[in-house]
Amino acid sequence: MKIRCEVNGVARELELDPLRRLLDVLREDLGLSGTKEGCGEGECGACSVLLDGAVVNSCLVPACQLDGARITTIEGAGFERVQQSFLDEGGAQCGICTPGMIVATRAWLDECARRGRAVDDAGARRALAGNLCRCTGYGAIVRAALGASRRSP
Ligand code: FES
Ligand code: FES
Repeated sequence: MKIRCEVNGVARELELDPLRRLLDVLREDLGLSGTKEGCGEGECGACSVLLDGAVVNSCLVPACQLDGARITTIEGAGFERVQQSFLDEGGAQCGICTPGMIVATRAWLDECARRGRAVDDAGARRALAGNLCRCTGYGAIVRAALGASRRSP
C-alpha cells in the first residue's frame, strides 16, 4: 500500500507491505539505524520513536498505521540537550537502549513543559519505566533525564 508520512521533517511516499514493522521501515528502507531492536516484542523500549509526538515501540507499529503520520527518530532534530546530558552523566554503556531512553526523555520533558508539570525524580522514573537497560544502571539514566531539563532546549 502507498503510505505518505513525514519522517524527521521530510515528506516521504513509500510503497509498503501493510504489516511491515515501522522499525524495519526506518532501519532497512530509510537507513535510520539509530533506532535499535532489542526484544522485538514491545517489552524493552529500545525501538522507541515519536509518532505524532507520542512515544511508541516501533517494533509494534505496522506500516498501515503510518499514513499521514509524523515520525521522529533519534536522528531527528530536538534531541541535543538530552543527548548531551546522557554523555555528561554517563547514562550509556553499550548504547542499545540509549536512543530509546533519549526519545522517551524528550517526550517526557515536552509533556512536562506543555502541561506545566514539575520535572522530578519520580516523573523521570515513570516516564522511563518502559525502557530497559542491562548495563548502565538506572541511577545515571535518571540523572541524565533530570539534567536535560536544566539545559536550554
Ligand atoms: S525492540 Fe521494540 S520494544 Fe523491544
Ligand atoms: S547501555 Fe546497554 S542496555 Fe542500556
